[in-house]
Amino acid sequence: MKETTCALILAAGKGTRMYCETRPKVMLELLGEPMLWYVYKALAPVFHTRLHTVVGFQAEVIGDAFHDHLERMIIQEQQLGTGHALQVAWDSLKKAGYTHCLVINGDTPLISTETIEHMLETAQREEADLAFATITPESPNAFGRVLRDKDGNVSAIVEKKDYDPATHGPEPTEVNAGIYLLRMDTIGPLLGWLSNANKSKEYYITDLVEFAIADKLKVHAVECGNDVSLMGVNNPAELVEAEEVLRARIIADYQAQGVIIRSPSSVRIGPRANIKPGVEISGPCEIYGETCIGSEAKVEAFTSIFETWISERSTIHPFSHLDQAVVGHDCSVGPYARLRIGAVMEDEAKVGNFVEMKKAVLGAGSKASHLTYLGDAEIGAGVNIGAGTITCNYDGVNKHRTTIKDGAFIGSNTALVAPVTVGANALVGAGSTITKDVEANGMAIARGKQIALRRKR
Ligand code: UD1
Ligand code: CA
Repeated sequence: MKETTCALILAAGKGTRMYCETRPKVMLELLGEPMLWYVYKALAPVFHTRLHTVVGFQAEVIGDAFHDHLERMIIQEQQLGTGHALQVAWDSLKKAGYTHCLVINGDTPLISTETIEHMLETAQREEADLAFATITPESPNAFGRVLRDKDGNVSAIVEKKDYDPATHGPEPTEVNAGIYLLRMDTIGPLLGWLSNANKSKEYYITDLVEFAIADKLKVHAVECGNDVSLMGVNNPAELVEAEEVLRARIIADYQAQGVIIRSPSSVRIGPRANIKPGVEISGPCEIYGETCIGSEAKVEAFTSIFETWISERSTIHPFSHLDQAVVGHDCSVGPYARLRIGAVMEDEAKVGNFVEMKKAVLGAGSKASHLTYLGDAEIGAGVNIGAGTITCNYDGVNKHRTTIKDGAFIGSNTALVAPVTVGANALVGAGSTITKDVEANGMAIARGKQIALRRKR
């Protein structure tokens, strides 16, 4: 059955309760990754390319972020409800020859592969036409309530908004988690029965439960108790709550693998990072994207690191920002350093306080210790960049490159007006504005001559 079962992620909604107008809800991030990324990650090992997504509100944003899934995205032009999303996708899934469809709300970022497997196995064992996961959380919030008859059999799911104790009886604590396994040939005909005659004026996927029972089909509730992996994210507080669950898991995993983490509750590491045993990290800090940190490297407090490679034994001192940079081994960065996209520090290089690098290579053992901007620059090995050096890379229209060859010495407060090259072992006097190339072993001083006058009183 597995090979003919597809998954359908419902991700077309706007997420009104998130108060986010600029992005679809499933693109909101937890530890630097969109909510939907986590759902794909949990589902991909089971469904591979049988993984489809219903998108609608700002569909192009989702398509751009998840190219691999673009081909299997189905557009729901108007978001008329979860049942409508299913109706929109149904024909194409049917045509693809699937026998079963696992439907999951895109706002369940904690979902695990195990829970999905459990769902599939239970549904198969029970030979259910419709199976759905239920949970019994401490606070059932806005989840759909699961109604059972006096024999304990499921009779319906009633949305919180539509729940009326007078008709439905005392409110149950068991609620719908938002994952369904549908047998396509028996459930398909029921889709036409959906209506929006309810408080939200939406077509509810949950109404299928009642319809299936009325049609004498087999409905089975997969009881998942208090399974946190089924938590839905509907508002900012729930987003942060889910993120905290993920964060704590990741930290615990790294601690178990031998990473030393101080003030662990304030350390945030994304799921794509790769941190080797023996690394020391002090909170608060955040490490996101595909960041790799080699053994015995240190990341000190108040640092923010994204998509960066840091080799063995390098130290990132406090208040440094690294974004798409590469740091070789035994380097020292900061405090208060900023490595932007394309900053490359070769082994044993040093970047000190208030130094910014962008699209620049700082060669092995070279130093830029204080107050410097290195942009669009190629700096060789063993170079000393004095305090206050600026590569003037932008003429207002174009960017130009600065090249500084091995062993050169740039005196403090130097402006290097690109394009310009300073030759190997050359020396530039402090306070110079260099506009012409300096030859190897040469010395250049470009500043006003000092004059001595008597002071008038
Ligand atoms: C839904 C369930 C509720 C369940 C809860 C679990 C319904 C009617 N209710 O409520 O029983 O307890 O999930 O988390 O399904 N979406 C679309 N197109 C639409 C509307 C929604 O793709 O037209 C997507 C949303 O992007 C979201 C998912 O479906 O990812 C669920 O929608 P949402 O509005 O969050 O449903 P809930 O009110 O949480
Ligand atoms: Ca929801």
